[in-house]
Amino acid sequence: MNKKSNLIRTFREKIKILKKHNHLYYNLDNPEVTDFEYDSLKKEITNLENKYKFLKELKLTNNLVGSPPQNKFKKIKHLHPMLSLSNVFDKDEMKDFLKKIKNFLNFKKDEIELIGEPKIDGISATLVYEKGRLTKGLSRGDGVIGEDILENLKTISSIPKSIENKEAPKILEIRCEIYIGKKDFENFKDNFANPRNAAGGSLRQKDPKVTSKIPLKYFAYGFGAVEPMIFKEQSNFLDKISEWGFITNPLSQKVLGINEIQEHHEKIDSLRSTLNYDIDGIVFKVNDLSLQKRLGNTSNSPRWATAYKFSAEKAITVIKDIAIQVGRTGAITPVAKVKPVTVGGVVVSNATLHNEDEILRKDIRVGDTINIQRAGDVIPQVISVDVSKRNKNSSKYIFPKKCLCGAETKKEISKSTNKLDAVRRCTKGYECKFIAKEKLKHIVSKEALNIDGLGKKVVEQFWELKFIKEPADIFKLDFEEIKKLEGWGELSINNLKKALKNSQNISLDKFIYSIGIRHIGQENAKILAGFFGSIQEFQKLFDKNKRLILLKNLNDLDGIGETQIESIKGFVKNDANSKIIKNFIKQLQVKDYLVQNINGKFSNKKLMFTGGFENMSRSEAKAIAEQNGGKVLGSISKKLDFLIVGNSKPTKKKIDQAKELNIKVINEKEWNKILNS
Ligand code: IVH
Repeated sequence: MNKKSNLIRTFREKIKILKKHNHLYYNLDNPEVTDFEYDSLKKEITNLENKYKFLKELKLTNNLVGSPPQNKFKKIKHLHPMLSLSNVFDKDEMKDFLKKIKNFLNFKKDEIELIGEPKIDGISATLVYEKGRLTKGLSRGDGVIGEDILENLKTISSIPKSIENKEAPKILEIRCEIYIGKKDFENFKDNFANPRNAAGGSLRQKDPKVTSKIPLKYFAYGFGAVEPMIFKEQSNFLDKISEWGFITNPLSQKVLGINEIQEHHEKIDSLRSTLNYDIDGIVFKVNDLSLQKRLGNTSNSPRWATAYKFSAEKAITVIKDIAIQVGRTGAITPVAKVKPVTVGGVVVSNATLHNEDEILRKDIRVGDTINIQRAGDVIPQVISVDVSKRNKNSSKYIFPKKCLCGAETKKEISKSTNKLDAVRRCTKGYECKFIAKEKLKHIVSKEALNIDGLGKKVVEQFWELKFIKEPADIFKLDFEEIKKLEGWGELSINNLKKALKNSQNISLDKFIYSIGIRHIGQENAKILAGFFGSIQEFQKLFDKNKRLILLKNLNDLDGIGETQIESIKGFVKNDANSKIIKNFIKQLQVKDYLVQNINGKFSNKKLMFTGGFENMSRSEAKAIAEQNGGKVLGSISKKLDFLIVGNSKPTKKKIDQAKELNIKVINEKEWNKILNS
C-alpha cells in the first residue's frame, strides 16, 4: 500500500513537471529543457502508466498533448509567397484604404466591390492539389519558405484529400486558417494559453498521432498557385471550392461603399461572442480578381486587401512605475509598468506611453489610475488618466534627458514638417549597448537572418550574459558555455549550429534590411540592393572618399528620398557602426542581388514619369513598367531612356531637360499604345 501511494505521488510529480514544461514551451515560448530531456520525461510517464494499471486509471495524462517541435520539418519554398495583411482600426482608416485603391486604379467615381470575410485568429497553412490529389501541406514559415506539415494537416478529417470535380484546375493551392473550436478548447485549457496557441502547438509538433487527438478545424479563404486560372472573382472562387468540398466561412459577404462596409463590420462584431472560433476583424478584399492583379502587392502585403480590426479591449489599472526603453533606432520610449490586469484574455503588465510629448500632454504620473487598451498583437496603450483618483502628493513625471547608456538624447527636426520630433533619441549608434541589443534582436528576426532557435528571448539572455555584443558575435558563440546553461542540450545546440550556418548565406537585400538603418525597411532595402548589386559595392558607403558620390546617385532611385539618404549617411558616417558592420560582413556570404531580368517591353530600360494619366495612377504605371522589366528613376539624368509625359500637369522643366539630353519623350497616347501592343 505504501509503495502504491509513493508511486502515485512520484507519478503526479512527474506530470506536474511535464505540465510546467508544456507551459514554458507552448505558452511562453521559452523552454527550459532540451527536447531530449522532455521526451525522456514523457517516456518515463508512459512507461509508468503501462506498468501500473492503477496509474492509468487516474486518467491524469489524457490532456497532456504535444512534444516540442523539433527542427525536423522539411523546409519547402512556397509556390507563391504567403503575405500578411495591412490593418485598419476605424472607419476613417477604412475610408483611406478605399481612397488609396481607387487612386491606384484611377477610379474616379464608381465604388469598388469588396468582399468582407471574418479574419480567423488561427494558424495559416497552405494546401497544394496536383491533378486533384493533395500533395503538399505547408505552414507559413517566413512567408517565402514554409515547413512541411502535410502529415499533420492530413489528420484534419474535413480537409479534402482529393478533389473529384473535373472543373478543378490542374494545380490548385488553397490557403486556409487552422483553428481549434472554442468549445473544444475547454478540454485543453490547462496546457495552452488560448485556442490559437493550442492549434499552433498541435500543428507544429512532430507526431501526427498527437495532432489527430486535437480536434482541429479550418476555413479556406484564398488561393496561391492556380493553373489554369479559372476564377474571376473572390466570391466565385469561394463558391466553387465550397462545391468541391472545402469549408468556407458562411459569414462572408459582398459590400459596396463605406456604409455597407461599416454595417457588415458592426454586424459581425456583434455576432463575435456567439461564434465557435476566435476572430479579430474582417478582411475586406477587392472582389474582382483582375483588379486584384492590377493592384498587386507591396513587399509584405497585398494592396487589394486589408484587415479591419475590431475595436480594442479595454481595462483599468494603476501605474506602478514608468521605465524607459531604447529602441533599435535609438528612440526612447517610456513604458508604464502597471498592476497586472487581464485585457481580452491576456495578462498585461506593460503599456506603452509612446513618447515624451504624450506623457506631457496627458500629464501621466506614477501612481495614476489609467484606462488601457489592447488591439491585436500590438503593445497595449494608455488611453486616458482618471485624474479624480490621483493622490494629492503625486508629482509630475520628469522625462530623463539621458539614454540608459548615459549618452545625450535629442529630438530631431523633421525634414518634411520642419517641426521638432515628438520622439527623443539616443545620439549614439552601436556604441550604445541598449541600441545594440535591439539591433541584435532585429538581426535574428524572421524577415532578416531568420535564425531558428535564436529568438528575441535568447538574444536577450545571451546579451545579458555578454555572449553577444555585436552582430558578428552571433557567429562566434562559445557552445561549451551555452551547454552549461539550463535548457541547452546536445540536440538544441546542434540545431542552433545548423541554423546559424544556414543563415550565414544571405541575400543582399536581407542583409541591408538586417543592419537596421532607420527608414530602410524591406521595400527600400530591395531598392538599394538593386542599386548596389553586391556587398562589395554596398561596402563602399563606409569609405569616406567614395561615399558622397554614391549617396548622390541614390537620388535617382524612385522610392529613396532625402529622409532615407540622410539616414543612410548618418549610419555609415558613424565609426562604431562602420567597424561593427564590417566585422559582421566577414561572418557572412552575402549573395549578389540578381535584378530579375524580366523579359518585357522595357527590359534594361530606365524610365521616368511626369504628369498624371487618364486611366491609371502613377503607382500603377510604375508597377507596370517594373513588371515589364523596366527600372523607374526619380530624376532626369543621362542614364534615362524614356520620359513618359501624362496629360495632366506634367513638369515643363523636366521635359525640357530630357529633350536637351536627347532622351526619348513619350506622350500619354503613345504610352497607352505601347502597353496595348
Ligand atoms: S487573406 C495575402 N482572409 O490572416 C494575405 N487571411 O494577417 C491574404 N486570415 O496569413 C490573407 N482569415 O492566416 C485572409 N479570411 C481571411 C483570413 C485571413 C484569417 C489570416 C491568414 C493570413 C493572416 C494575415
